[in-house]
Amino acid sequence: MPVTAVSGSASGIGAAVCQALRAAGHRIIGIDRADAEVIADLSSATGRQAAIEAVLEQSEGVLDGLVCCAGVGSSAACNTIVSVNYFGVSELLDGLADALAKGAAPAAVVIGSIAATHVNPDQQPMIAAMLANDEALALQHVNALGQSGVAYASSKYAITCSARRRAVDWAGQGIRLNVVAPGAVETPLHQASLNDPRFAEAVKAFVAPMGRSGHPEEIAQVVAFLQSPQASFIHGSVMFVDGGMDAKVRPGRF
Ligand SMILES: NC(=O)c1ccc[n+]([C@@H]2O[C@H](COP(=O)([O-])OP(=O)(O)OC[C@H]3O[C@@H](n4cnc5c(N)ncnc54)[C@H](O)[C@@H]3O)[C@@H](O)[C@H]2O)c1
Repeated sequence: MPVTAVSGSASGIGAAVCQALRAAGHRIIGIDRADAEVIADLSSATGRQAAIEAVLEQSEGVLDGLVCCAGVGSSAACNTIVSVNYFGVSELLDGLADALAKGAAPAAVVIGSIAATHVNPDQQPMIAAMLANDEALALQHVNALGQSGVAYASSKYAITCSARRRAVDWAGQGIRLNVVAPGAVETPLHQASLNDPRFAEAVKAFVAPMGRSGHPEEIAQVVAFLQSPQASFIHGSVMFVDGGMDAKVRPGRF
């Protein structure tokens, strides 16, 4: 039975991923702040380290899959966005890479976002700091800017780029790694943006060509496919699952 660790397993997309992978026969080691096999706070370095150690203990050092879903939205504090969405993912990837290398046909997915395409990386020094793995400097930049919407888009751009860089390295160890970039999906995170007067109008206007938001299960099915043997040659890809939104906004970029 494949063993897969899933961060953000208690809610939304992460919970749907757990359900889809369980249905595909995986044993799940969920990581979240509550209601999970591993209770940990991925916003701090100590919390991330505790999560990695607990997953290694529960998996006996061998993982077949990893899905990083844990994240916070634009309505969270700027520094939390950077710490959870970037460092809470990159440190899990690095800390669990050796366990994945020992797994059977190992594969990992990072949940990015279509928001990653909404930022110009050359204009956001926090992105370079994240990619340089300098959390203190990234927090300095994001706090100085004080715009959580830009922090969210930057964190998602940086983690997407970081995952694609890792994909090149990880190929030699036989670990596949892909990014799923959802558009608007009906979850508590999305609802929090709708409830936030700073973002409500923009979020309501962000309607995909298909005319609706996605359901967590529609993201989870794509993740389950990417984690399956059917996706054996898909590696380093960014898969938009967004009802056609990226095609509408950037038809010439692919
Ligand atoms: N919902 C959307 O419209 C949407 C769109 C694009 C990308 N995403 C991404 O999808 C992922 C899942 O989000 P969701 O919409 O399912 O939201 P959600 O709020 O339903 O789930 C997020 C989960 O992450 C966990 N989490 C947050 N901070 C944590 C921390 N410090 N330590 C441990 N766990 C923590 C939460 O407890 C929660 O269970 C996120 O990375 C989000 O950025 C969501």
